[in-house]
Amino acid sequence: MKIHHIGYLVKKIERAALAFEGLGYLRIGETVRDEGRGADILFLEKDGYRIELISPYTPGSVAAGLLKTYKNAPYHICYASRDFCADMDRLEQSGYVRMGEPQAAPAIGGRRVVFFMHAAMGMIELLEELPPT
Ligand code: NI
Repeated sequence: MKIHHIGYLVKKIERAALAFEGLGYLRIGETVRDEGRGADILFLEKDGYRIELISPYTPGSVAAGLLKTYKNAPYHICYASRDFCADMDRLEQSGYVRMGEPQAAPAIGGRRVVFFMHAAMGMIELLEELPPT
């Protein structure tokens, strides 16, 4: 599994994006509305590091609850997996509790993602890495 991005909760996505750009980050694509997660999502990159801004647009969003707890803050590291199902099983057998079923992520080309919670580490995300076409 390779690190794909760091997920960053923000209250106001455009203001956050401008602040990151002020530090030299570049946008990757446009802000995408993820209806499944009730959040707007924008990727930025700097020095080979990719970050994902996640900003809930509805109080029912899981991200809205997290934002209350964490404020504007990084809250997950996402790992890309070439063997999605096998890595999911492996994590579940090593103390990671899966949070729901894998869902297609519209901000990442519809690839499947799933979140896990680990008692000693917090939250991670697993992203399906599709073979090169
Ligand atoms: Ni993420």
